Amino acid sequence: MDFTAPPPEEQTCATATSGRYRVIERRSFGPYALLTLLAPDIAAVAAPGQFVMAALPGTQFRLRRPLSLHSVDGERVRLLIEPRGGGTRELAELGIADTLALAGPLGRGFPLERVRAALLVAGGIGTAPFQFVADVLRSRGVPVTATFGFRDEGQARLAGAFEIDDLWVATDDGSVGRRGAAVELAREVGAGPQTSVLACGPAPLLAAVRSWTGAAGLSGYASLEAHMACGSGACHGCVVPTREGYLRVCVDGPVFALDLLESGADESGSGADESGSGAVEREGTS
Ligand code: FES
Repeated sequence: MDFTAPPPEEQTCATATSGRYRVIERRSFGPYALLTLLAPDIAAVAAPGQFVMAALPGTQFRLRRPLSLHSVDGERVRLLIEPRGGGTRELAELGIADTLALAGPLGRGFPLERVRAALLVAGGIGTAPFQFVADVLRSRGVPVTATFGFRDEGQARLAGAFEIDDLWVATDDGSVGRRGAAVELAREVGAGPQTSVLACGPAPLLAAVRSWTGAAGLSGYASLEAHMACGSGACHGCVVPTREGYLRVCVDGPVFALDLLESGADESGSGADESGSGAVEREGTS
C-alpha cells in the first residue's frame, strides 16, 4: 500500500474534503453492511482511525453520522454500517450506484509510527477502523494480533469483513470462538512490553482495557465513540474528560492515549455491553 497520509499531529479538518460519492460495492456480514465508495480525494489523505461524516443526499443532508474508515484501497474507501434504527437502516440499505454525501477524513487517527507490535481489541461495530490499521501496520512489517468480541453468531459474522491473519473471536454466548469478552481474550493472548494495545468499542470494553493495561503496565490508544452533532469542533457536544481537561472527540480525537483518559471518558458513547453489541452513534468511529 502506498500510504502517504499526514502524521497524526497534522491530521486535522484542514485536509478534509466534502462531496457526493458513489457506492460501487456492497457486501453483507450478518446484520452489517460494508459499503465501498469511489472517493479518491478522501482516500488520498486518510489515516487509520479517522472518520467521515456521512449523510444521505436530498433536499437536506439527512442522517448525518460519523462513520469510521474501515479501509482504504487505492481510490476507494470502505465504511462499515450497523443498522440500529430507521436512519442507519437507510444507510445500510444503500446499494450499488447510490450516492452518499461525505465530509472527511476527520479527526486524529492512531499514531502508528510509534507502534512496534499491536494487539487490537474491539467489540461489535467498534472493530470498524481496524482493517485500515492492520493494513498499514502490515505494510510496515509490524506484527498484528486482533481480539474481537461479539454478542452471538449472527454478529460474529462481521469478522468476515476483516483480513487479519492473527484474528481471535469471542462471543458472549460462546457460539463462535471463546465464550466471553474481547478483553478477556486479549488477556489470554497476551501482550509483550513492546506491544501497543489499540482499542475501540463501547464504554465497558474501553474501561476494561484501561483497567487491564494500567495494571499490566501496557500502553496504547483508544478510539472513542461519541454522539456527534457538527463533527468539526464547533458545538462542544462530544467532550470527554482527560488529564489535559475536556477534549473534543471529533477534532482532538477520536483516538486518545489510554493513559490520557480520565475515568468517565470512555462513557461518552454508550452504556452498551462489553461485546460492543449495543454501541451507539458512531457506525464504526468506533
Ligand atoms: Fe461538535 Fe465534536 S461534534 S464539537
